[in-house]
Amino acid sequence: MANQNVRGTAAIVLNKVVEQGESLNTALPAAQQLVAPKDKALLQELCYGVLRWLPRLDFFAKQLMDKPLTGKKRPLHFLVLVGIYQILYTRIPAHAAVADTVNGIKTLKAPGLKGLVNAVLRNFQRQQDELIAAASDKPSLVFCHPNWLIKRLQHDYPAQYEAILAAANERSPMWLRVNQQRHSTAEYQALLAEQDIVSDVSAISPHALMLEKPTDVSKLPSFMQGDASVQDAAAQMAASLLAPQANERILDACAAPGGKTAHLLEIQPGISHLTAVDFDAKRLERVQQNLDRIGLHAELIHGDASQPNDWWDQQLFDRILLDAPCSATGVIRRHPDIKWLRRDSDIIELSKLQQAILQANWQLLKPGGTLLYATCSVLAIENVEQIRAFLAATPDASLVPINSEDTPEHPGWQILPGQDNMDGFYYARLRKSL
Ligand SMILES: C[S@@+](CC[C@H](N)C(=O)[O-])C[C@H]1O[C@@H](n2cnc3c(N)ncnc32)[C@H](O)[C@@H]1O
Repeated sequence: MANQNVRGTAAIVLNKVVEQGESLNTALPAAQQLVAPKDKALLQELCYGVLRWLPRLDFFAKQLMDKPLTGKKRPLHFLVLVGIYQILYTRIPAHAAVADTVNGIKTLKAPGLKGLVNAVLRNFQRQQDELIAAASDKPSLVFCHPNWLIKRLQHDYPAQYEAILAAANERSPMWLRVNQQRHSTAEYQALLAEQDIVSDVSAISPHALMLEKPTDVSKLPSFMQGDASVQDAAAQMAASLLAPQANERILDACAAPGGKTAHLLEIQPGISHLTAVDFDAKRLERVQQNLDRIGLHAELIHGDASQPNDWWDQQLFDRILLDAPCSATGVIRRHPDIKWLRRDSDIIELSKLQQAILQANWQLLKPGGTLLYATCSVLAIENVEQIRAFLAATPDASLVPINSEDTPEHPGWQILPGQDNMDGFYYARLRKSL
């Protein structure tokens, strides 16, 4: 049976993500197979927590060690961070956190360094007040985001950037999407209550329920039959904003893993044809798995949305969902590794790709048709600036406002992370003239 030490395992995952650039989405599930089932949630908490507060924890470790742990010893540096994280941010009693972290040495096969890890953690316990004070005036140690991202947010949101950064460091809630073909949102909430699972309806997203506590999907009523899916309430706005009608041809241009594809089919079973495209073959497999679980059908195409001539059948679409590849800066609370894996130079490249996909997809839309542009970013260059430039350059495109603040001068709807407990998201709805 898998029973590897959970703290040592967390240190190995963190080393892979921070030092080797592996995404948490791949490193964590693999490691969860190595620890006892009861430790899976703790492993996740330790990895997420250290990634949230990484520069702060690094700073503390640096103050407490004569020289950094490098090379083959690097995973031990992350074991130290795992220890400090528990003392500062969890309810695990400090003495137990230190003892269990020191035991993680076995997993890292470095018994000679047990004394060092033990001494650093005990010194942290003794000196934490002074160390916290020393970290309190440096923005990168307070906000725990990379400087380039702090600067971009400061520029885009002079009055709100601190709240955005703070929300990105919060733990995210678990949201469900209720399959309206099977139950109303209220009916499913009652089914959850019968299992003692407490949930709240969304103020904004009509099919969304927020669980009081994250819950294993195997405990959710008829989850495997597709009665509900896990999806943030902000992401659930896409289907109702696109509002597919019966007998229409719909394109989901960047579809994987298929959450929005499935939602479109759930709210409009009369769609005549839904084409779901994605560039990533592995992720496209997940679209099929999601549709199979719910019992839905779409045509899946492995293709590049910026090069439709390679895959398009020349029939125009009534509506297009363009959920563009983006910086994912609106979902950092769910993927804290984004902070350390993304580079500032990625942002301009992403905005060029978004522009190319937007221009190419516009050619596939019927006159009178609607295109919904979406990102899970909070950066203006990917959102409001992207759409403003597109509207200026595209005479047959006009804005269909989502709310009263959505104007041609400041197009789209920017949801900020934490707003109504949702992820950060951006939507802009465009219409092609007849
Ligand atoms: C934000 S995710 C889509 C999420 C999806 N709509 C959902 O709700 O589950 C963006 C997707 O774009 C895909 N992608 C990136 N570049 C692409 C391109 N040039 N053409 C098509 N898909 C692309 C990525 O593989 C990724 O799956």
